[in-house]
Amino acid sequence: MNGKILCKILENKVVAHNIHKIKIKNPSRDFKIKAGQFINIKCGEGTFPLLRRPISIGLADDESMTIYVNKIGEGTKLLCNKREGEYLDILGPLGNTFNIDIDEGKVLIVGGGIGVAPLLELTKELSKMKLEIKCILGYKDEPFIVDEFKNYIEDIIVVSEKEGYDYLGYVTEPLKKELEENQYSTVFTCGPEPMLKSVNNICRENNTAIQLLLEERMACGIGACLVCTCKAKKGNDWNYVRTCKEGPVFYGDEVIFDE
Ligand SMILES: Cc1cc2nc3c(=O)[nH]c(=O)nc-3n(C[C@H](O)[C@H](O)[C@H](O)COP(=O)(O)OP(=O)(O)OC[C@H]3O[C@@H](n4cnc5c(N)ncnc54)[C@H](O)[C@@H]3O)c2cc1C
Ligand code: FES
Repeated sequence: MNGKILCKILENKVVAHNIHKIKIKNPSRDFKIKAGQFINIKCGEGTFPLLRRPISIGLADDESMTIYVNKIGEGTKLLCNKREGEYLDILGPLGNTFNIDIDEGKVLIVGGGIGVAPLLELTKELSKMKLEIKCILGYKDEPFIVDEFKNYIEDIIVVSEKEGYDYLGYVTEPLKKELEENQYSTVFTCGPEPMLKSVNNICRENNTAIQLLLEERMACGIGACLVCTCKAKKGNDWNYVRTCKEGPVFYGDEVIFDE
C-alpha cells in the first residue's frame, strides 16, 4: 500500500439517481490497482467525517481511475459534491484482488446495485483472457453503467425490479437458470448482503466456485483497527479475518454471514 495520496478530479457526473461517476488522475504510473481493490477516501475538508470511506475501483488504467459512488450518507454526499479540478485525499491501493487465475471456460459475473462497480474492472481484466463471460446486472430501479460493461462484453442480462429491462425481479432467478443450463468455472459477485447470501447459496448448491466482494463497514482500511472483522471458515474450523486486509474478496466456502 502507498501512503496518503492526492489525486486530481478529472470528471464528476451523475449517471443515475444518486449515483456519481468520479474519474481521478492517477498519482503516478507506478500506481497499479486491480479488480477487487479499493481506496479509502477522506470525504470532507476538515475533521468531519472523521473516518475515511472505502470505495471500490470501478475502472483503472495507467492514467486514471474511476469510482462509482452511491450517495447514501454524509461522507458520500460530500464526496459527490466535489468538483472537477479539486483534489481527493486517498489511501490505496487497499485489500486483495479477485483471483482471475482461470485458464479457460465460462465465467459468470453477478452484480447488484452499486456492487456492479468493482465488477466493471473485473470484466475488463477477464475480457483480455480466453474466456466466455456473461454478466447478470441487477438494479432496484434504473440501470446504470451497462454501456460501460458493453465496452468489454456483449452477453449481459439486465435485471430490475422495475419493468422494461431483460428480466423483472432479482438476479437470483436468471442465475439459477444459467447454472442449470451451463457449466461455469467461477461466479464473481458483489452487491447487497442479502443478495450475496442467496447467490452464494445457489452457487454452493450447484457446486460452482464463487468469489464474493464484501462491502463491510470499515474504518482504517489498513488492518489496524479491527472494525471490519468478520468470521471466516478455515477447514472444519473458523477464525476472525479483517475484511480490509484478508478481503474484501472471499471464496464462497470461506464466508460466514451473520444470522
Ligand atoms: C471494500 C468496500 C468497497 C466499497 N465500494 C463502494 C463503491 O464502489 N461505491 C459506493 O458507493 N460504496 C461503496 N462501498 C460502501 C461505502 O463505503 C459506504 O456506502 C460509505 O462508507 C457510506 O458512507 P456515508 O458517510 O455516505 O454513509 P453513512 O452516513 O456512514 O451511512 C449511511 C447509511 O448507509 C449505511 N452504510 C454505511 N456503510 C455501509 C456499508 N459498507 N454497507 C452497507 N450499508 C452501509 C449506514 O448503516 C447508514 O444507514 C464500499 C464499501 C467497502 C467496504
Ligand atoms: S477497517 Fe480497520 S482493520 Fe479493517
